[in-house]
Amino acid sequence: MAELRHLVSIDDLSLAEMEAIFLKAREISEDLTGWSQLCQGAITATLFYEPSTRTRLSFESATQRLGGGVITAADMRNSSASKGESLADTVRVVSSSYADLLVLRHPSEGAARLAADYAGVPVINAGDGSHEHPTQTLCDLYSLWVEHGHLEGLDVVLAGDLRYSRTIHSFAYALARFGANLVCIPQHGFELPPYVVKRLREEFGVEPIRASGKRLGDLAKSSDVVYLTPQKPHQLSLFTDAKGKAQDIQHVHAVYMTRPQTERYASGGSAESEEYMQLGKNTMAAESLKDAVVMHPLPRRDEISADFDSDPRGIYFKQAARGVPVRMALLAAFLGKIDVFDAEPKPALEVRRGEKDELRCPKESCISRTEIRHADTKYKLISRVPLQVACAYCSHEIQVGAVGCRTTQEWHAPNSPQLKKVRPEEMAFFADAQEAEDRGFRAAPGFSEAEREPAPPVL
Ligand code: NCD
Repeated sequence: MAELRHLVSIDDLSLAEMEAIFLKAREISEDLTGWSQLCQGAITATLFYEPSTRTRLSFESATQRLGGGVITAADMRNSSASKGESLADTVRVVSSSYADLLVLRHPSEGAARLAADYAGVPVINAGDGSHEHPTQTLCDLYSLWVEHGHLEGLDVVLAGDLRYSRTIHSFAYALARFGANLVCIPQHGFELPPYVVKRLREEFGVEPIRASGKRLGDLAKSSDVVYLTPQKPHQLSLFTDAKGKAQDIQHVHAVYMTRPQTERYASGGSAESEEYMQLGKNTMAAESLKDAVVMHPLPRRDEISADFDSDPRGIYFKQAARGVPVRMALLAAFLGKIDVFDAEPKPALEVRRGEKDELRCPKESCISRTEIRHADTKYKLISRVPLQVACAYCSHEIQVGAVGCRTTQEWHAPNSPQLKKVRPEEMAFFADAQEAEDRGFRAAPGFSEAEREPAPPVL
């Protein structure tokens, strides 16, 4: 039997699969009410542990327009979660005879990955903490594709809170894979997290280039601009002059604005006290922005002023409306009613299951820490030599200081060439040499004292 597919990360879909979904969404949008036979009788469960308007309602509308039904737990304070039930148990129950597909939103990073491990039906991630929001990305890419006819080579500004916006993270990975360029204009202090930049660089071949925002006018007035390009060879000559000085960005195709994700700030504080980026008629007056569509996943607060709503470049409400046909196509695909999936799914990064004594993900809001009884210690192996690993739930980089081999009971430094000979299933990850030795491992022969120091972070 074919393996059950889930949509946890935007990486779970190939470019061809995304394009097939766009084509189907366009076909659906031409006759939105004409598809009520396609998924007749199918039941979608929407489990939302965080607030939502568009995502939940558009999934529910999409299911009903396809002829299916919806069961929902939209306020988890009214569910058994308030009695202490784990996510894993809830998912096991709801994905039994209750529903054919599960849509989950949760405040912990990696929650959808955990749910997929326990579910008997496809799980679709509708946002897991500040990690990913792949279906919003499909809507965003679809909107860009409808507006511009293609994605490759587009220059897309990502503005606002790039640190905590999960929509930005999934969008950035997908844009890079489609060959679009990212112009990052973060709110000061809310730059893309290092683990996201690292993935863009190492998994998707994206190169960050210093750029000048002079031509971007007011949009870039309070922020450094970073240009990230997956185009090969990296077209440095386009963006830096002979003396290596950053050049202006000439022409932008889209500006994607985001809301300050205040609910994820450690202090619970508000960005309203400081001056937050605001986009309006004046900001969009720069010549380089004259053809740029303005996007926003919504909800917005003040980051796009209402005076811009009448500007034809503002497509954020159209973008939200397109969420229904996109999610209809997606649901039909995951319910097995249309054929969009590749015959051979692309191989994922190798995942290693760790033992209880090993290094855990350091991110406090990762599901592997909040749901400790049900989550394994799991690592994605990004590279074997030098060893680089990320948490398999939340993708956060894990700094390994010593790698044990369970067969020889020796430990190696993470940059040791000897690691080539250690198979992933024999490995054991520790924070440092001392921890490895406390667990009974001894230094591998040929080890030098310098290797005792944990490897510095790559970024
Ligand atoms: C986004 C989200 O929940 O991440 N909203 C949405 O799904 N359309 C963006 C946000 O809340 O800022």
